[in-house]
Amino acid sequence: MPDCDKPPRVDLGLEGRAFVVGGGSRGLGRAVADELVVEGAKVLLVARDQDSLDEAVRELGPQHAYACAADVSAPDAAETVAAAVDAELGRLDGILVNHGGPPAGRTFELTDDQWTDSFQLVVGGPIRLLRALVPKLGDGASVVFITSWSIREPVPNLDASNVLRPGVAGLVKVLAQELAPGVRVNSVAPGRFATERGMSLARTRAEEKGVSVEDAMAEMAGDIPLGRYGDPPELARLAAFLLSPAASYVNGVNVLADGGLIAALP
Ligand SMILES: NC(=O)c1ccc[n+]([C@@H]2O[C@H](COP(=O)([O-])OP(=O)(O)OC[C@H]3O[C@@H](n4cnc5c(N)ncnc54)[C@H](OP(=O)(O)O)[C@@H]3O)[C@@H](O)[C@H]2O)c1
Repeated sequence: MPDCDKPPRVDLGLEGRAFVVGGGSRGLGRAVADELVVEGAKVLLVARDQDSLDEAVRELGPQHAYACAADVSAPDAAETVAAAVDAELGRLDGILVNHGGPPAGRTFELTDDQWTDSFQLVVGGPIRLLRALVPKLGDGASVVFITSWSIREPVPNLDASNVLRPGVAGLVKVLAQELAPGVRVNSVAPGRFATERGMSLARTRAEEKGVSVEDAMAEMAGDIPLGRYGDPPELARLAAFLLSPAASYVNGVNVLADGGLIAALP
């Protein structure tokens, strides 16, 4: 593990700003919430489970963090989150579009319902959410999607992601044109991180190969030039930068946080 616990800080200009943080109760979204709060921002955390949200709010401090229980793939989620923005934040400077990942499986193994649900989770829900929230954004605001390295190269046995995430990369490009100049839109693409999601994918790989989870993770880490899984703050600092005014001329890009896993040229 690198010495990344206390990296040198630069002032991102986030003091007093307010953000919606999708998937903010744990994993990568929670790490982004941590970064934003450390930088002096307020966050509205969105996830389905109320108890985990309440715990995250307690840890971040109720003067900095607020909870909004919603399933982003559900038709009424956008309205629920928009109402919570009005009630809790009062202003909106940016949105982290993030949620859980679609199910593992190969194209023909996934059922029609799994394909439909995955679309609602990864594409439909985020579009509805942005339709409701973008009008609330102030000038100089920023939207950041968490996508996946599957937008650059298919991930074995993760076809819902392999098919739908490149569509999200297209959505980022489209919105970066359509919402400019008032709002910037970018994405960060994680490689492998040992969050709950990362561990569940490692368990699936271990079962498939008939090896231990530790051995499966060691094999997958071996594909990464930096030789290890990422630590969530290593992605979160990147996302916080893109959400901040410090990235004021960065629009329509996808940035990988993958330790060099994708070897292809851009
Ligand atoms: N970790 C990795 O290595 C990796 C690699 C590539 C891509 N990604 C992608 O990055 C994103 C975040 O991953 P992660 O590792 O942080 O996952 P995670 O540890 O499973 O956390 C997911 C977060 O999203 C929330 N969530 C899940 N489904 C939701 C829904 N339908 N509506 C609203 N909130 C929802 C979860 O809370 P609730 O369950 O309470 O809703 C939780 O807060 C995912 O899309 C994942 O596919 C991760």
